[in-house]
Amino acid sequence: MKLSWCGPRVRGAAVLAAAALYFAVQAAGVSAQGAAAPRPGVPRPVPTCERCHGELEFLRQHSPTLDRARSLSVSDQLLRGSGHDLPCAECHKGFSAFPHPGGTATTATCASCHPAVARAWDAGTHAHVDQGSPVGCKDCHGVHPVPTRAGLKAREAIVAMNQRCLACHDTRRFPAHAPHSDSVACASCHGAHDVRSHDQAGSTLAARSQITTCGACHREEAASWRNDIHGQTVLGARSVKTVAGQEPPRPPTCTTCHGGHQMVHPKQVAAGTGPGAGCTKCHEKYADTFGDSYHGQASRLGSKRAADCTGCHTAHSILPAANPRSSVAKANLVATCGHCHPRATASFTAFQPHGDVHDRAKSPLLFWTYRLMMLLLTGTLMFFGVHTTLWLARSLRGEPAGSGAHGGTRKGGDA
Ligand code: HEC
Ligand code: HEC
Ligand code: HEC
Ligand code: HEC
Ligand code: HEC
Ligand code: HEC
Ligand code: HEC
Ligand code: HEC
Ligand code: HEC
Ligand code: HEC
Ligand code: HEC
Repeated sequence: MKLSWCGPRVRGAAVLAAAALYFAVQAAGVSAQGAAAPRPGVPRPVPTCERCHGELEFLRQHSPTLDRARSLSVSDQLLRGSGHDLPCAECHKGFSAFPHPGGTATTATCASCHPAVARAWDAGTHAHVDQGSPVGCKDCHGVHPVPTRAGLKAREAIVAMNQRCLACHDTRRFPAHAPHSDSVACASCHGAHDVRSHDQAGSTLAARSQITTCGACHREEAASWRNDIHGQTVLGARSVKTVAGQEPPRPPTCTTCHGGHQMVHPKQVAAGTGPGAGCTKCHEKYADTFGDSYHGQASRLGSKRAADCTGCHTAHSILPAANPRSSVAKANLVATCGHCHPRATASFTAFQPHGDVHDRAKSPLLFWTYRLMMLLLTGTLMFFGVHTTLWLARSLRGEPAGSGAHGGTRKGGDA
């Protein structure tokens, strides 16, 4: 009902008419159905608050500014279908009289109706922001037409919510190459209410929580990783040998290998070019022996097909060679190598991917072959070294007069 065309008197009459209509509709509803409960699809009776709060022009006359009038303008229509499809009086007590009584009219707080959320909220960083303007429920949800629980999961709602986070965290926009840019809610990784820095205990991104946080969407990887040597170490499912005076070993979590906001394509993780870098940073010795191996050299020369670390060890099911389930356990090597060498046999797998020429116990054949080659090389070099030195010394000293064949040649030349 638009009243902008009419004067105050006419409007007064219209408000009275609306009130009369309201009571008439209510009475009819009660006598016809025996109950006044709203039914889906049946238009609701005009509620009393709507009479004034649904009329912007009326509110404008009782407000100092148009903005104030706009914020007072809360129609029943606004709430319909939203998470807060409730009667006004559920949240606003004592407003039925007008002018509204200052002292006795109260508005319920968000926390009073959502106590579980409020507890999580109190534990998080946002509840304790002391510099700048504090963050409140309204900053993310608004007040009256909040989305429903299902609505919060819709793609448009996610994008809109991400924009709200970014309004305060604009430096955290995802780079264009990152896989999670628009499709994933900030809150899926950071949580919605108990939001903490990733390195703070209790964060959804703390080392031990990532399996649940990332695993909510990447179930297969998380399930494998639960039994992986790194996963088990992170989750505390195995004890780790520690050396006194040294930092305990730090196994990688999902984001060590993949990165957070700077996430790159997984293939780049294996290649060691990702932000957390690949395996080489933590397993230097094995990286060196890999580098000297056939596969390492082929990769360096640009082969895209040659095995990298995960080609043999997998990415999320890495286990020590001594574990029978490991992809590099002796019994499984034919299958593992067989992915790329279909005709691999047990003797083919005798090839040592981490052959170390300096380690006699681990690689005796390599060790002795290397020694022999070195002996041959140094022997040959020494022999020719001595030979060359003697020859040089002799030619510098000059040759004895009138001697042998050379003299003969010269003579022949003179003739
Ligand atoms: C006769 C018109 C009228 C009716 C009916 C009416 N209001 Fe208001 N209401 C106003 C006006 C005008 C204001 C702004 C001036 C003021 O704060 O008193 C206002 C202000 C408010 C405010 C803001 C108070 C504040 O301090 O910011 C709330 C909340 C509110 N009304 C709720 C309600 C609810 C709930 C109902 C129904 C139970 C209702 N009103 C019915 C006219 C009305
Ligand atoms: C789920 C609870 C809830 C319902 C339902 C609700 N409100 Fe509110 N409303 C609030 C809260 C909370 C605030 C206080 C927001 C704030 O702190 O600025 C508020 C604020 C207001 C204001 C003041 C706005 C301002 O800017 O000062 C008005 C007017 C208002 N409500 C009217 C209504 C009317 C009319 C209805 C019914 C159509 C309604 N509300 C239904 C919770 C509710
Ligand atoms: C009078 C109690 C009451 C107040 C006050 C109240 N809410 Fe609600 N809120 C509800 C009810 C009831 C629902 C519907 C719950 C449902 O469908 O399970 C709801 C739903 C929601 C939803 C949608 C998610 C869901 O569970 O369906 C959000 C978001 C929400 N409220 C946020 C807020 C915020 C923010 C405030 C403060 C501005 C607030 N609420 C104030 C009672 C309230
Ligand atoms: C930083 C933004 C942000 C703030 C501030 C915020 N929320 Fe939420 N809230 C969210 C997001 C995002 C979701 C959806 C979470 C999901 O889908 O798991 C949500 C979900 C909800 C839900 C429905 C799901 C549930 O967990 O029950 C309610 C109710 C709710 N919020 C109430 C509140 C209340 C009350 C406050 C203030 C104490 C508040 N929110 C503050 C972002 C926020
Ligand atoms: C109204 C502004 C505002 C909104 C909206 C907001 N934040 Fe914040 N956020 C802050 C402020 C202020 C801090 C604390 C100051 C800081 O450390 O940057 C903070 C802290 C954080 C932190 C911890 C940072 C740290 O280093 O301790 C994370 C993570 C975070 N917010 C994520 C989010 C996410 C995710 C959303 C959306 C669901 C969101 N924020 C919405 C203002 C906001
Ligand atoms: C895939 C999970 C993921 C998503 C989605 C995500 N983040 Fe992050 N976020 C992280 C990780 C991991 C870190 C810490 C490492 C880093 O900075 O990359 C982080 C760091 C942050 C920080 C600094 C505080 C801290 O814990 O170091 C803020 C603020 C932040 N993110 C806000 C956002 C906002 C805003 C969005 C949505 C646009 C978002 N994040 C989406 C995983 C995510
Ligand atoms: C809410 C669900 C969700 C959460 C939580 C989530 N992701 Fe994702 N992730 C996705 C979606 C969707 C994609 C995009 C898939 C695509 O592009 O095919 C993706 C892509 C990826 C990719 C790239 C896959 C590819 O083939 O390019 C990696 C790696 C990844 N996520 C790791 C993580 C990590 C690590 C975390 C936790 C910090 C995480 N994700 C949290 C949904 C999620
Ligand atoms: C040790 C490093 C490492 C860790 C820890 C790790 N990943 Fe990966 N992830 C990789 C590598 C390398 C790949 C690429 C696999 C390939 O090339 O076959 C990958 C691939 C992925 C993919 C893409 C899969 C596909 O089919 O495209 C997702 C999603 C993923 N990881 C999620 C996770 C999650 C979630 C976690 C934690 C539970 C995690 N990763 C832990 C190294 C790791
Ligand atoms: C952030 C450091 C880090 C990164 C990155 C990392 N690892 Fe590890 N890795 C560890 C730690 C710590 C252990 C457990 C060592 C222990 O228990 O003493 C481990 C154990 C292993 C083991 C079992 C070895 C043993 O001695 O039991 C293998 C195999 C392995 N990692 C392979 C890889 C591969 C392949 C990658 C890359 C896809 C990789 N690692 C990436 C730190 C790392
Ligand atoms: C061609 C397959 C292959 C490639 C490629 C490969 N490995 Fe291995 N790796 C093995 C096999 C087989 C073993 C067990 C025999 C051994 O220790 O030499 C092993 C053993 C290891 C071990 C010790 C496991 C244990 O139980 O003690 C680590 C750590 C390791 N590799 C890391 C790496 C890293 C890091 C890379 C990449 C730089 C890599 N591997 C590349 C096949 C491979
Ligand atoms: C991800 C694929 C892949 C895996 C897994 C793999 N290799 Fe290879 N390997 C290659 C490719 C490709 C070449 C040829 C490299 C080139 O010349 O570009 C090669 C070459 C070799 C060669 C030297 C030339 C030849 O073809 O005989 C040996 C020996 C070898 N691999 C042994 C192994 C063994 C043993 C395993 C298992 C422990 C293994 N490889 C696992 C891809 C793989």
